Amino acid sequence: MCAVAVNMTYEPFSKEPEYVEANRAFIATLPLGGVRTLLDLACGTGVMTDLLVEACPHLRRILGLDLSLESMLIAARHFREQGTLARRGIRLQLLQGTADILPVADGCMDAVIMGNSIHMLPDERHLLREVARVLRPGGLFAFNSSFWAGTMPPGTEKVHHEWVKQAAVYLMNRDRELRRRGKPGIRRKRGTAKTAFSRPWLSIGDWQDRLDEAGFAVQAINRRTVLMDRRCFETIGAYAGLASVLFSGYPVQLASEALQETAGSALAAMGVSEVPRLWLEITAARKETV
Ligand SMILES: C[S@@+](CC[C@H](N)C(=O)[O-])C[C@H]1O[C@@H](n2cnc3c(N)ncnc32)[C@H](O)[C@@H]1O
Repeated sequence: MCAVAVNMTYEPFSKEPEYVEANRAFIATLPLGGVRTLLDLACGTGVMTDLLVEACPHLRRILGLDLSLESMLIAARHFREQGTLARRGIRLQLLQGTADILPVADGCMDAVIMGNSIHMLPDERHLLREVARVLRPGGLFAFNSSFWAGTMPPGTEKVHHEWVKQAAVYLMNRDRELRRRGKPGIRRKRGTAKTAFSRPWLSIGDWQDRLDEAGFAVQAINRRTVLMDRRCFETIGAYAGLASVLFSGYPVQLASEALQETAGSALAAMGVSEVPRLWLEITAARKETV
């Protein structure tokens, strides 16, 4: 029995205190004092949107955009029930779409923030040009990511490998068990999803080059240590988006179950109770001309 039901949205992990606090700390470093219009790119279920509303005293309009309609319905319900936006007179618009084609006029945003999703876009150059287009000159672009070239402190890769190895063995055993009972085994449909992390993770230097090319001046770069314990591994394993990439073609329910069920034993096998992960945070300003 899984600790957390498999979820098509990022909601389970995004509610973990480690996740919320790391994002809150990142947002606290941003110069948001004068921001009136803000775009939360790949807003998911609205965890960062909430933190951004808290951090922007002069916010008038906030736009959240995500590919996942299911995530945005959760966000919409949350903001309706919470009532903060209405009390503060902030206009919220939630749009389903892809972050690299923005239905937004040129130069109308004071800030664009992208939480833990920039690595999911297929072409970061295209994305950055689009972000630069919608920002006013001098406007702020900030993102964080836990999928970049330096994200695993040396030695910690072994824990992630152990986790995936144990989850693969779990799936093999489930398959054997089903066949032993005369049932069809686990069917893997190849070619249905991207293979695990098919694109290389970018380094800080790569990001600096990409931002410069797109017309941004980098203002701050930070690496934040986030400790991932068993519960974090379980809730991230519950995210269908990760399970379907790590175990491409397997039924996502089972892949997620395997990741959750083996999180504790993988950490125990490596003799650790938590694993540090470095989150990259980059803040940039749009140059006057792009
Ligand atoms: C790891 S979640 C982060 C969500 C949110 N920013 C947060 O911190 O809770 C990544 C999000 O990116 C969204 N996503 C993936 N590819 C996208 C794309 N091309 N355009 C817009 N959103 C995308 C997913 O639907 C998901 O909600």
